[in-house]
Amino acid sequence: MSLDKLLDNIRILAVVCNQFGDSGKGKFVDYFSSNWANVVARGTGGNNAGHTIIVNGREKVFHLLPVGVAYDSSGVISILGNGMVLDVKVLAEELDELDNEGATYNHLRISEDATVIMPWHIAIDQAKNQSQKDGGIGSTGRGIGPAYADKVARKAVKIRDLFNTDTLVKKVLKLSEIYPDQNINAKDLVEYILPFVPRIKPFVRDTVTEMHQFVREGKKILLEGAQGLLLSIEHGVDPYVTSSDCSLNGTASGVGLPANAVDLSIGLIKFPFMTRVGGGPFPTEIGGLRSEKHCGEGFTKKDELERFGIKYEIQDGKIKYNPKDEKILQMMNSQDTFIKGIGIRLAAGEYGATTGRPRRVGCTDAVAARYAVGINGPIMALTKVDCMSGADSFNICYDYQIDAQRDLRFKRDAAYLRKITPQYQIYGGYGKINSAGIFKDLPARLMDAIRDFEIFTSGKVVVVSTGPEKEQTIVR
Ligand code: IMP
Repeated sequence: MSLDKLLDNIRILAVVCNQFGDSGKGKFVDYFSSNWANVVARGTGGNNAGHTIIVNGREKVFHLLPVGVAYDSSGVISILGNGMVLDVKVLAEELDELDNEGATYNHLRISEDATVIMPWHIAIDQAKNQSQKDGGIGSTGRGIGPAYADKVARKAVKIRDLFNTDTLVKKVLKLSEIYPDQNINAKDLVEYILPFVPRIKPFVRDTVTEMHQFVREGKKILLEGAQGLLLSIEHGVDPYVTSSDCSLNGTASGVGLPANAVDLSIGLIKFPFMTRVGGGPFPTEIGGLRSEKHCGEGFTKKDELERFGIKYEIQDGKIKYNPKDEKILQMMNSQDTFIKGIGIRLAAGEYGATTGRPRRVGCTDAVAARYAVGINGPIMALTKVDCMSGADSFNICYDYQIDAQRDLRFKRDAAYLRKITPQYQIYGGYGKINSAGIFKDLPARLMDAIRDFEIFTSGKVVVVSTGPEKEQTIVR
């Protein structure tokens, strides 16, 4: 793998997503954490994210800890930054999980400035935002939005408050007045939360000051983005967003750095398909409203496999099936777009790591990508490109039409995005690409599409991921 080619003279690297999240960040973050970084830091979100980390050869899904924690024994420092919202119970569970595996986390740092997710945040989130049916946001139900709401209202409990019971009780009493329906009892709450405090205390620091020191020392710092630009509270389509600014800017400020300190920011783009989890407009969704409704109904991967008669096995509690199964290929090439979308979902394994929900599948939207380039910068990596091998054709959306007019804007307006009709360029499909070593090895039709995409977005594709393995990566 020649990702190292990208890293000459780079001290601060960010890996962010330019779509709706779930863009295969793990592979890159893992590579940079294992081969390059001294420090790996997360700055946004909380346990709404989900990624698989290999600990002692075993796959573990973590929601909070940065990927860098898997390299703790090599001295890699992992930071949960000031911009995050932390559920201390989940954090303690993830640390227990590492203990069970005999893995260390001596270099973990938790920002004293991060916000604490309280039990009532989770209750409110689940009551109000979780249902994707009837046009709801379909949040992950982890209390993310309500915790950030308290932060913005300047009322939130911060990690540092957990070490001062008087301040904690005072803050909780104030919050109990704000949330009368939640019957918050300060004593019960403090009793609930205090057992987690000694567990995290050894790792809590002023991570912002430390980060500035790391920069002065010339340490190699990897900023691990979470979610994606189109879900950002600042740049996504309100209300169908998460509550953090998961752009490059938010990712940098969430660890105490300016975005211009970042030497290289790589914006990930799934290509030539994309996904979204939860509610909200998705102009290029394959199967349109039928797919949106289906994905909001709580079906699981197992349900979909059984419905379409695809063989699977359960190993270590995980469902295993062959994504290249002939039936899946047929579904990908179906004339019925609803079935086609499910076929791509199965071929690419697009089911949530956090919630297990089927992800809605669409064509890559170059209009949205062009918008994302404007915010996250021009450098892009295309991911999961091999998943569409075997499809007869693929479509890329290069413009929107509204009231019979061309419109190249991605507006942060749900009504507008529901109204536009995406216009597609159709490309012929491609076969297996897993063994392509350099860009020129890729099928001509795919290269044409990538070039068109670059010209349209004013971006530069520096990486094409052709399979899940680290070696299956083309660097231009
Ligand atoms: P929340 O972040 O739980 O408040 O959810 C708000 C929206 O962001 C919902 O549509 C979620 O499905 C979506 N979302 C949150 N985290 C992720 C993620 O890691 N990947 C994809 N979508 C996410």
